[in-house]
Amino acid sequence: MSELKYENNILRFGNISIDEISEKHQTPFYCYSKSVLTNNYNNFNNIFSDLDYKICFSLKSNSNLSLLRILASLDAGADVVSEWEFKKAIGAGIPPQKIVFSGIGKNENEIKHAIANDCFQINVESLAELKKINQIAEGIGKVQNIGIRINPDVQSGTHEKITTGSLENKFGISVNETLEIFNKTKEFSSLSITAIAFHIGSNIKDLSPFKNSFEVAKNLIDKIQLNYNSLKTIDVGGGISPEERNFSFKDYYDMLISYFDKERFNFIFEPGRLIAADAGILVSKVLYTKISEGKKFIIIDAGMNDMMRPALYDAQHEILTSKLNDSDHNIETEIVGPICESSDKFMRTTKFANIQEGDNVVIKNVGAYGSTMSSNYNARPFIEELLIDKEEIQIIRKKQSFDDFIKNEL
Ligand SMILES: Cc1ncc(COP(=O)(O)O)c(C=O)c1O
Repeated sequence: MSELKYENNILRFGNISIDEISEKHQTPFYCYSKSVLTNNYNNFNNIFSDLDYKICFSLKSNSNLSLLRILASLDAGADVVSEWEFKKAIGAGIPPQKIVFSGIGKNENEIKHAIANDCFQINVESLAELKKINQIAEGIGKVQNIGIRINPDVQSGTHEKITTGSLENKFGISVNETLEIFNKTKEFSSLSITAIAFHIGSNIKDLSPFKNSFEVAKNLIDKIQLNYNSLKTIDVGGGISPEERNFSFKDYYDMLISYFDKERFNFIFEPGRLIAADAGILVSKVLYTKISEGKKFIIIDAGMNDMMRPALYDAQHEILTSKLNDSDHNIETEIVGPICESSDKFMRTTKFANIQEGDNVVIKNVGAYGSTMSSNYNARPFIEELLIDKEEIQIIRKKQSFDDFIKNEL
């Protein structure tokens, strides 16, 4: 549940007003709520208590060390896609026995690092990768747990740029090829292929795409078990939308156990957005307003380099003013950033009639795929990140300095 609310027309995040935070911290900045992050994790976690399972938080959605430490304290595992994500998870206190290494293009160093450091499971997305991992594991002298990430060829009903489970997409191994791989398991003596994994996309609001993928996976698993009986783990990926969802976690759980025998299998869940999205906001200041031939632009100091989801995916993120003195003026208005790109825009509205230069605005639900996707484009620094825990505001990432920005350039 969002901690953002107006009290006496003043916007607060938890117990603190946005304007109060921005008096001490230069905009733009990310700000997270410890209680929202914790509640989101616990609400999801509580559903599965009678299963043998791991919740492996997807670091690509947010990998701030302080947030990861909070999740580690709640017993979360990690879904990582690079060596540095692996190291961050470990650094935050998540044990390697709770880490799943995903991704379609892991390089040799990343694979070596994962195996040498006892990564619980590596999810594989091609036969070529399987051969490479076997070779590396053999060299290290270990037997590595493997999940085969299948491509169930289902439509996820989400934005085309965040759909991953159809054969149009680069991800995963087809069902037929997966069966062929199981016919060759003897060739992979340093691998223990114990899991079937799938992840069909992000921000999924309907249960039916999950149902379709469970069905494909179940049919495949039944065939594999008939001959090999080697599968122990079903990794269902992430993708559950935190908002406007038409099903409950209980619906999801009931469907899961209707397909897969909970006495026979253990489960891995890889939520990202569900845990982190509404735990984070982006606070920005209005730099200028201008009206150009009847169209109004509100230029704020956060840009697509700080939060690129609208530019990349046409993502809609609601924007609120820090004081509620808003009215509709029926003028086509666009809230835009300062970057030299036409796609650097956040929201269209006909409201914000009374907004003034210097006012603070809040972009909602940016705790997932906000900071982790930010860049130095236009030579702009990575911005400050804050954590709110009751009345306390803590800096959890410093704003990048100019010296730090240029230090590796020769
Ligand atoms: C393999 C995998 N697992 C989990 C996730 C997390 O997805 P979400 O944030 O939608 O839960 C992703 C996101 O792209 C992913 O690629």
